[in-house]
Amino acid sequence: MAAQNLFSEFGQTKIFKNRSAMVSDFVPLSLPHRENEIRRLAQILAPGLSGTRPNNVFMYGLTGTGKTAVLRYVLTMLESEAGRRGVAVRVVYVNARKDDTGYRVLTQVGRQLDLQLPFTGLSVSEVYSRIVDHVDKEEETIVISIDEIDNLVKDNSSNLLYKVARINSDLAKAQVSLIGITNDARMLEILDPRVRSSLGEEELVFAPYDSEQLRDILNVRAKDAFNDGTLQEGVIPYVAALAAKDHGDARKAVDLLRKAGELAERVGSDVVTTDHVKRALTEIEADTTMEIIERLPLHSKLILASIMKLDESNRNPITGDVLATYAQMCSRIGTEVLTARRVSEIINELDMVGIVTTSILNRGRFGRTKRIALNVDHKHVWASLTNDPVLKQLV
Ligand SMILES: Nc1ncnc2c1ncn2[C@@H]1O[C@H](COP(=O)(O)OP(=O)(O)OP(=O)(O)O)[C@@H](O)[C@H]1O
Ligand SMILES: [Mg+2]
Repeated sequence: MAAQNLFSEFGQTKIFKNRSAMVSDFVPLSLPHRENEIRRLAQILAPGLSGTRPNNVFMYGLTGTGKTAVLRYVLTMLESEAGRRGVAVRVVYVNARKDDTGYRVLTQVGRQLDLQLPFTGLSVSEVYSRIVDHVDKEEETIVISIDEIDNLVKDNSSNLLYKVARINSDLAKAQVSLIGITNDARMLEILDPRVRSSLGEEELVFAPYDSEQLRDILNVRAKDAFNDGTLQEGVIPYVAALAAKDHGDARKAVDLLRKAGELAERVGSDVVTTDHVKRALTEIEADTTMEIIERLPLHSKLILASIMKLDESNRNPITGDVLATYAQMCSRIGTEVLTARRVSEIINELDMVGIVTTSILNRGRFGRTKRIALNVDHKHVWASLTNDPVLKQLV
């Protein structure tokens, strides 16, 4: 047998031309069906090119509707046009989910403006004044964008947002425009009204994509990512339809198509079929369920474990039985039992995230109770539950 390098068969892909064009933080060169949003944002920011402060912008829309992609695209264009014309415009992009405290956001802003800052040790106000001093040396326009800004509100940094929203009153030469982005509809209510009105000088709403739009988006992305002829006919429309059924999430569509491609490759197929898409979807769904379960608080996990245990011996348990089993588990691990009312709320929460489905059961003079049906695979649930050291003791 000819000596073959162990690695020769790996890394040569029949399916993908450029798999990285299919990962979600890749910014494609064209963004179909976002031409209007791109134009609007460009129009809003354009005054910066002639030395006038652009209005602040608040961008919102559900997850996967292209907010980040549009923003990054427009900011890149703005920077290069400013460079071409020799105007002083600088852009800053911070993601408040990655830099999730006021301090970290602010130091990130400072760094992107070439200000040396220590990682810790300064107060937020000290960092703020250093940034003000640093940028106010010249007449320039600075566009500061804070993506997933809702994370700052949760972190109780709205004070910081308030400060940043008023930064222009501390500046004499430079001027700042602020862009805030969120997918959290509650943001509008919980945001400090002063910040809200300042940020909302302009508002840009991103509507969900429909299945035809998702088809176009996938076609554009697939052209970069997949080898010609590797996607069987019907694959893209199928992925688009599945993603549109959810709420028109382009990230979901792109991820699903990539997963289907990876799966096809793993099983040595030359083409991606709708069957690969179906299997990829099942894998994704199992992954998300496991993630949700792993992140549940302890008592929710205990209640879920009780439901599971009962379901194994007697399908679809009722609330009363769950309460009893849950109480036993609590005593075994020596923790206090939550009230029946709270347990019932937790069961409703499990229903809301889709792990169980409850239905009201009328038992005549015994009153009403709930029957609980599990929607997820036992194997997956146990696997996620027993990742928790406390739950592990119980099984
Ligand atoms: N019109 C489009 N054309 C091509 N790709 C797109 C388009 N819209 C979104 N995408 C892609 O879909 C994925 C999700 O888009 P993006 O990250 O912009 O969503 P988002 O609105 O910022 O979501 P979130 O609120 O979760 O941050 C990315 O991979 C992005 O490149
Ligand atoms: Mg985003």
